[in-house]
Amino acid sequence: MMKLMINGREVEVIADPATPLLWVVRDELGLTGAKYGCGQAVCGACLIFADGAPVRACVTPLSNVAGQKITTPEGLQGQVADAVRSAWEKHDVAQCGYCQPGQIMSAVALLTEKPAPTDAEIDDAMNSNICRCATYGRIRTAIKTASGMLKG
Ligand code: FES
Ligand code: FES
Repeated sequence: MMKLMINGREVEVIADPATPLLWVVRDELGLTGAKYGCGQAVCGACLIFADGAPVRACVTPLSNVAGQKITTPEGLQGQVADAVRSAWEKHDVAQCGYCQPGQIMSAVALLTEKPAPTDAEIDDAMNSNICRCATYGRIRTAIKTASGMLKG
């Protein structure tokens, strides 16, 4: 049995410590915002925050995040997350939507660290989130809009 703090709630899970975090979050806890894409730390669909830092939950063993504050896409809160969600809606970013929770997690991580990123910084922060629908242009536009909202 392991105790985890997920989205502000303490939960107990019965799982092998080597189990990937993504399995526990989706299958044990029913939080299906983070997606299974490549399973090899390549696509970013499974991004989850551990103590505020993005981790690829498909390859992160449960034991690595014991005692850390886990945030899934469902648990995103705050000014940056609100701005990103609002900008995503405004620009109708999602196509099939599968990659979008991971994209939003990366955008929130970027704007939390750098509220006014340059184009190069946006590209750098987002280049390991793959979108098979190629929504990259709208993602970049939405990040700029969210940045504008944060500036005030
Ligand atoms: S499913 Fe984890 S990075 Fe692709
Ligand atoms: S919106 Fe379809 S994979 Fe990104």
